[in-house]
Amino acid sequence: MDQEPITKMTDEHLTPKPTSLPPMADLAAAQSLLRTVFGFAEFRAGQAEIMETILAGRDVLAVMPTGSGKSLCYQLPALMRGGLTIVVSPLIALMRNQVAQLRGYGIAAASLNSTNGFDENRTIVEQIARGELRLAYVAPERLAKPETVALLRRANVGLLAVDEAHCISQWGHDFRPDYMNLAALQNELGPLQTIAFTATADAATRADILSRLFRQQPQEQPQVFVHGFDRPNLRLAMSARNHGRSQLAQFISGHRGDSGIIYCASRRRAEDIAAFLRDEGVKSLHYHAGMDAAERSRNQDVFLQEDGVVMAATIAFGMGIDKPDVRFVCHHDLPNNIESYYQEIGRAGRDGLPADTLTLFSTGDIGLRRRQIEEGAASDDQKRVDRLRLNALVALCESPRCRRQTLLGYFGETGASACGNCDICAGSVAVVDGTIAAQKAMSAIVRTGERFGTEHLINLLLGEETEAIRNFRHDALPTFGVGKEHDRNEWRSIFRQLYAAGMLSLDITGYGRWTIQPAGRAVLKGQARIELRRQAVTAPGKKAARKAAATATLGEGSADHALFEALRARRSALAKAQAVPAYVILPDRSLLEMARGKPTTLGEIAGIHGVGEMKLKLYGEEFLDVIRRHQASPSQRRAD
Ligand SMILES: Nc1ncnc2c1ncn2[C@@H]1O[C@H](COP(=O)(O)OP(=O)(O)OP(=O)(O)O)[C@@H](O)[C@H]1O
Ligand SMILES: [Mg+2]
Ligand SMILES: [Zn+2]
Repeated sequence: MDQEPITKMTDEHLTPKPTSLPPMADLAAAQSLLRTVFGFAEFRAGQAEIMETILAGRDVLAVMPTGSGKSLCYQLPALMRGGLTIVVSPLIALMRNQVAQLRGYGIAAASLNSTNGFDENRTIVEQIARGELRLAYVAPERLAKPETVALLRRANVGLLAVDEAHCISQWGHDFRPDYMNLAALQNELGPLQTIAFTATADAATRADILSRLFRQQPQEQPQVFVHGFDRPNLRLAMSARNHGRSQLAQFISGHRGDSGIIYCASRRRAEDIAAFLRDEGVKSLHYHAGMDAAERSRNQDVFLQEDGVVMAATIAFGMGIDKPDVRFVCHHDLPNNIESYYQEIGRAGRDGLPADTLTLFSTGDIGLRRRQIEEGAASDDQKRVDRLRLNALVALCESPRCRRQTLLGYFGETGASACGNCDICAGSVAVVDGTIAAQKAMSAIVRTGERFGTEHLINLLLGEETEAIRNFRHDALPTFGVGKEHDRNEWRSIFRQLYAAGMLSLDITGYGRWTIQPAGRAVLKGQARIELRRQAVTAPGKKAARKAAATATLGEGSADHALFEALRARRSALAKAQAVPAYVILPDRSLLEMARGKPTTLGEIAGIHGVGEMKLKLYGEEFLDVIRRHQASPSQRRAD
């Protein structure tokens, strides 16, 4: 373990440097830093009021969508107030990422963690001691160490920012025991303004965070902001997996040259899919926890630094990665539960430009997820919550209603109207009266004594004389062969939908046998009807939708594609030279604005999204040079 020389500090090093601004000026000052440091024209929804509350000294718990700009809500106040801001986040990759971005803006930030070398950590400790850092990212397990606490106690800490705050809750989907140490830290460092952020906290998780993380005096109750969960720029689509590879290939063909992530249920599958995509001519790598650390971080770096890489990965990949231009996330297999689904698709389109998602699933996936829950080591309470979250996801997959309405409904946001940006709104899923099909399926279940699973029941409905059908004499039942108007895949979908609608229940501990619920009996008896989706085997209209998304990404026609590519190439070269991700130089959106507006002076470059003072100084001339060369090139003159 590395020892930190915290005893050598002198009082002089620790003199606080408060820079308290008059409260009225706070928001205006924040606005001006937003422009000069970050190069952003305006706050995004919710940011201004959260920052105002933080600058007024109050504790805050903010729940905002993935990619909506929570980091800025603690980074900007950290620049404006005296003292040091401690940022806690659960992953070292996440801390490194943010520190790289902040340094790119010219902000004094560092991260204290166990993967730093001895010298690196010592330098950081000295910087903290001298009051030179504005933000220090610290891993939660570090905060439990007495020497860290001693260091911080003398370092004029003004603000504790807890990112991914759901990690403190055992109900959350990502519980980290080390987050429990944060409450103790409050006592050790004295009353400390605490601000916490997360994208996924339902009501139970929020209550948990409030009781575990904050000072409990009534006058100091944190202000809670819940800014909803919607990510309108993400297109949502889900589809039964019939031919996984070709569905994947079709989806990706609409995204040539884009960065994307394909989530897979196993390490083996991640490797296979990456190889498959390479055969298809796609730049693709794999990532999972079974790789050695060096290879893992090499692949991650390529994904971050190069344009157009597709990562086939297990869920070990992606948390805390703020690559803003990921244009699609595809789940090759059903995600773990609805919160994981939301987090994982949230890695697409963080720049606010259109992005695409597709989730593939099968009845087998659902069964596997159920077994994982039942056979896992979690407490009964936890398993109950896990089951509910999985059921919510299954229902979302089979929903005949707008995906976004269904998803937001799960998080407690009701009343949204149909979104117009999901497969169901796009009309690729037709709804038909499914009462007769439902009655046939349930009659097959009843007549076989509620003892059989999907495949056997489908054999019965299709009139297949398998060995099992003959052994049980099911070929003599009146239901034998009555379901030939649907094929096997359609029947599978019908079973899942009846399940999602609460008509059937699936025995998850046994062999997946189906039993009938009261709601199902009503349909069976003809007392109620049910609408079912006609499973779209190849989703119609998808190509058109994706083309539209790609055009929208590049703006209304006027962006010069050749110039955009030239700017990307220069950015790549700059990123490689500094060994940082390309977006740390500038995000796609900035390059798109340049390709559209073709600025010719530094003053015009300064007006581009994402170009603050530091970026202007470092890269302004570089990109002007690309634009000038492009304008002067013969092909360009011909085009004019
Ligand atoms: N006011 C703004 N204008 C333009 N871009 C912004 C603004 N605020 C933040 N961003 C950008 O939005 C992107 C996403 O921000 P951030 O990483 O803070 O998301 P997040 O809310 O923490 O999401 P997650 O829950 O997934 O971690 C970043 O690339 C950031 O630079
Ligand atoms: Mg974040
Ligand atoms: Zn919709």
